[in-house]
Amino acid sequence: MIKPDGVSGNYTEEIKRIIVEASFDIAKEMLTQLDKETASAFYDEHSSRSFFPDLVTYMTSGPVLVMILEKTNAVSDWRGLIGPTDAQKAKISHPHSIRALCGTDLQRNCVHGSDSRSSAEREIKFFFEDVVSGDIASQH
Ligand code: CMP
Repeated sequence: MIKPDGVSGNYTEEIKRIIVEASFDIAKEMLTQLDKETASAFYDEHSSRSFFPDLVTYMTSGPVLVMILEKTNAVSDWRGLIGPTDAQKAKISHPHSIRALCGTDLQRNCVHGSDSRSSAEREIKFFFEDVVSGDIASQH
């Protein structure tokens, strides 16, 4: 997902170029504006954290681009490409990462990536209800 700071900062085309150069296929994409309820549900696992209200405000501050990326080892390769959660740290330790390119700090980090195959499955279904488990399981 390209978060509101990535979309409003006009990083979408550059991020897509990086995605394609890294041999991902963009199987589906959707530009959408999250409301409070949807952003809260998406990040439900963080709902007890002190940063949660700010996270929801950030994620509803403008449109996001949600994508299904296909590739062998897509989950780990995408997480490698985006770099550490904290964009400040990414700029130092992973200067060529996407978060180093367009993120600002620990919260405003420009992009999201599923952290496991099971969370990828949940998050794909969250946004693309027509994609069934078999489709995801068949991606290696
Ligand atoms: P993301 O990878 O989308 O997963 C959860 C998001 O919560 C994370 O990126 C950041 O945007 C935000 N986040 C995680 N940890 C913190 C934190 N300690 N303080 C503020 N925001 C955070």
